[in-house]
Amino acid sequence: MELASVIIWLVVFITIVSTKIARQQTTAYQTTRRRSLPPPPVATGSPLLGVLPALLAKGPLQVIRDAHAEMGSVFTVRLLHRKVTFLVGPDVSSHFYQGLDSEISQDEVSQFTIPTFGPGVAFDVDFATRREQFRFFGDAMKPAKLRTYAGLMVREVEEYFARWGQSGTVDLKQELEHLVTLVASRCLFGEEVRSKMLGEVATHLRELNDGMRLVTIMFPHLPIPAHRRRDMARARLGEIFSDIVRSRKACMSESGGGNTNDVDDMLQCLIGSRYKDGRSTTETEVVGMLVSALFAGQHTSSSTGTWTGARLLADDNVVHLRAAVREQERIVARHGGHVDYEVLQEMEALHRCVKETLRLHPPAMVLLRHARRSFVVRTREGEEYEVPEGSTVASPLVVHHSLPYVYGDPERYDPGRFGVPGRGANDGTDAGAGAFAYTAFGGGRHACVGEAFAYMQIKVIWSHLLRNFQMEMVSPLPETDWNVVMPGPKGKVMVSYKRKPLSAAA
Ligand code: HEM
Repeated sequence: MELASVIIWLVVFITIVSTKIARQQTTAYQTTRRRSLPPPPVATGSPLLGVLPALLAKGPLQVIRDAHAEMGSVFTVRLLHRKVTFLVGPDVSSHFYQGLDSEISQDEVSQFTIPTFGPGVAFDVDFATRREQFRFFGDAMKPAKLRTYAGLMVREVEEYFARWGQSGTVDLKQELEHLVTLVASRCLFGEEVRSKMLGEVATHLRELNDGMRLVTIMFPHLPIPAHRRRDMARARLGEIFSDIVRSRKACMSESGGGNTNDVDDMLQCLIGSRYKDGRSTTETEVVGMLVSALFAGQHTSSSTGTWTGARLLADDNVVHLRAAVREQERIVARHGGHVDYEVLQEMEALHRCVKETLRLHPPAMVLLRHARRSFVVRTREGEEYEVPEGSTVASPLVVHHSLPYVYGDPERYDPGRFGVPGRGANDGTDAGAGAFAYTAFGGGRHACVGEAFAYMQIKVIWSHLLRNFQMEMVSPLPETDWNVVMPGPKGKVMVSYKRKPLSAAA
């Protein structure tokens, strides 16, 4: 039932996106210069339906995997009369990640996010403004800021798990959804929002997440209940955040135009940010950026935290769990129970566990671009193709991360593959070390600005859990929910815990 609905929406998505783009690109196609290279091979399918029957039978991921196995790293999938070109692997991905936005852009394929992020930000503004806004995010994620956030994260996590009993059974997914929302709000928005976080704001945030379905990609304004709830939630979040921005600004002017020594959150950074022309950020923009940051980091981080637990607590991975626990014991021996930014950098084994989790479970299944100009790709085998102007181009992260020539035994959860020379694609290199070999956080021009923040947050949580609790999975390794834009673990992820004696926890 769910798979069928995924596929139907995928069909609708590709059809409509392609129709919209084709309309915009009619002139471009007519003026395409003479091609000397062939276009990518097209996956076999029925003459009228393309790969639709295969999609219904096998699901989207298997269709991409099969096409990749049959045709290699560059291929086009036709669904009805529309096409998406897939680029798989680092050898063919540099233009996708590194190309100029004037040549390969996100705009045409990202308009569906506007009702969620709101007016005045992200894909509602021109490219130059968007770049500057992402720079403001980047400024709020610099090491000096991250040092402050680390302390806030540790406090929030300790307070949260202090509420757990001596032993019990919990849905790890639900617990981490709550906790990540609290942590993000404390770091990004300060105490004003955090105090409301498990109440109204958390509910609205869930409604925003729930309102970004596969159908949304094609019909962002379709009058369905999930979209109506999303719009009401976005409007209410706008009101709440606007009040907070106004009261923060009032405090600043009362204290003489900006004495912010005691306030060091992202809200403060965004209020204080200036565009290159000297213009200040508006209230609408600050509100939109707050919503965007929360949205970009919330589901991605909570699902990665949950997958990390599900993987580490699986019976097959006891050796990796032990390595991570031993590392925590060494850290405790060296620093007592104290955890800060520097101490987090020492948790290399835990870092590798999270990185390997993201290799197998990237929260974004596929990244999309629109080819504003044709471009040439050359495969490892030496084949050359010209991807035509106007194409929708896709980087399927799950397949990209499972290439045996990049990651030996790719289906195995093996955090040890990172950071050890000789475990990589080419002997002597570190697994995933080459350009665009590991793209859980994207790469190149649009690499994620929240990567360091996300790692810190997940490491603070798991460092605390590993030090303080003995845990066991009591449900099987979850399946992936492919029915949403950002797939996460499906269903409950039940875990039993028992508090460790105080001396062990330090
Ligand atoms: C585990 C957590 C996260 C994952 C896996 C993740 C993943 C990604 C990916 C794959 C992209 C590239 C999208 C593309 O190329 O089309 C991206 C971009 C971005 N991410 Fe994240 N993200 C995470 C957390 C965060 C957080 C916490 C923030 C901010 C608070 C954030 C802010 C952004 C922004 C602003 C961009 C756009 C960058 C640009 O286009 O220049 N992300 N992220």
